[in-house]
Amino acid sequence: MRVPITLNVNGIAYELELEASTTLLYAVRDAVGLTGAKEGCDDSECGACMMLLDGKPVNSCSYLAVQADGREVTTVEGLADGETLAPLQRAFLEHGGVQCGFCTPGMLISATALLEASQSPSEDEVRIALSGNLCRCTGYDGIVKAVLEVSQARS
Ligand code: FES
Ligand code: FES
Repeated sequence: MRVPITLNVNGIAYELELEASTTLLYAVRDAVGLTGAKEGCDDSECGACMMLLDGKPVNSCSYLAVQADGREVTTVEGLADGETLAPLQRAFLEHGGVQCGFCTPGMLISATALLEASQSPSEDEVRIALSGNLCRCTGYDGIVKAVLEVSQARS
């Protein structure tokens, strides 16, 4: 059964008609055309598909698009200001927090949510906040340093 929904993605409203079983991940990747969020495990384990839904991080592989109807979705594409990277994105690059890049969109979404929720998170709090995002390449230290640097630079 196809259902009409409105997905508000990165400030733009998309009127879509989707199968009721379509996940938020595939609605955004296939119907909207934003492919930053990745499918890793498709089982809420890796965090590669993470998006913000009304400011809270969700694993979009395990979330139905119809559940996001009328709500605000932010993907990694929404973090930069046009061609200008967000401070967090620059810090990831500067600290070697990006290698193959597969986990990076989800990492950036989790870190963005943390920095919104906490003014000055400790290293432990950063590691806990990112614990739902798996990375096979970086060893995590560069990612954690990047988040801490951005947090400290604004306080
Ligand atoms: S693809 Fe969604 S958590 Fe892994
Ligand atoms: S940079 Fe490759 S999985 Fe994280």
